[in-house]
Amino acid sequence: MKILRTRSALIKWRAEQTQSVGFVPTMGALHEGHLSLVRRAKRAHPIVVASIFVNPTQFGPSEDFKKYPRHESADLKLLKSAGCSAVFLPRSVSEVYSDIHETSIKARPSLSSILCGRFRPGHFDGVVTVVYKLFRWVKPASAFFGEKDYQQLQIIKAMVSDLGVGVRVVPCPIVRESSGLAMSSRNAYLDSKSRLAAAEIYRILKTSQTLTEARRGLKRAQFRVQYLEAWSKDLTHPVDRKGRWLVAVLYRGVRLIDNLNKN
Ligand code: PAJ
Repeated sequence: MKILRTRSALIKWRAEQTQSVGFVPTMGALHEGHLSLVRRAKRAHPIVVASIFVNPTQFGPSEDFKKYPRHESADLKLLKSAGCSAVFLPRSVSEVYSDIHETSIKARPSLSSILCGRFRPGHFDGVVTVVYKLFRWVKPASAFFGEKDYQQLQIIKAMVSDLGVGVRVVPCPIVRESSGLAMSSRNAYLDSKSRLAAAEIYRILKTSQTLTEARRGLKRAQFRVQYLEAWSKDLTHPVDRKGRWLVAVLYRGVRLIDNLNKN
């Protein structure tokens, strides 16, 4: 597995490839959720590139950029065993951004102003900007994104379509712990007891008949609900009951998101 530490090394390596490339962008601290994307990419492409970059422009000033988990050497081992061909692991932020105030992309407002966008201003602009840049350098035929970040997935699809980027965006299902808790790098902030308790989020969403019932259940289980809403599959319009249920809660100071299809 090739480890590419600079933008120019990535671009040079990419120019030498003759087969189709699948791409899995990540921020590292990898778990089975990320690896499922790599395996899915392997099924479709002879060459799979992953990136590990904790992207500063998608973190708010009071968010966890500095303390975001970084497990470089463990991550590289996992990517290698999952069959990755190359990893872009920039040596420094300056490999990706020449200046924090440089040109950027604004996510489609109708999608980025709802749900997480209400609580994380500017977050999705940072996401689409870095993903666009990575797409330009990796030039993948397809890129693989988890439904864990369902809103992010819709926003990236919209960016690709609005800007005519020519990358196929492939949605991949949420990977969960056996408890039902959606895997997330941020779960590392919770001890094992709290992780088990956090699995209640999924159980409550799954078993509740109405949003009101789910909201009550979450509050009873000590979650601070930021939002719990039902939306159409493409997040273009809210719905009453059936559709995609999306939730963000704070639990012991950790922000957790999840979503599922309710039919
Ligand atoms: P990160 O949170 O590291 O996630 C990288 C990819 O893994 C995303 O597509 C995410 O949806 C997917 N993923 C995470 N947990 C998952 C799970 N439990 N099941 C399935 N897929 C899961 O999302 C980001 O990084 C960044 O915003 C990024 C797109 C890399 C841009 O910086």
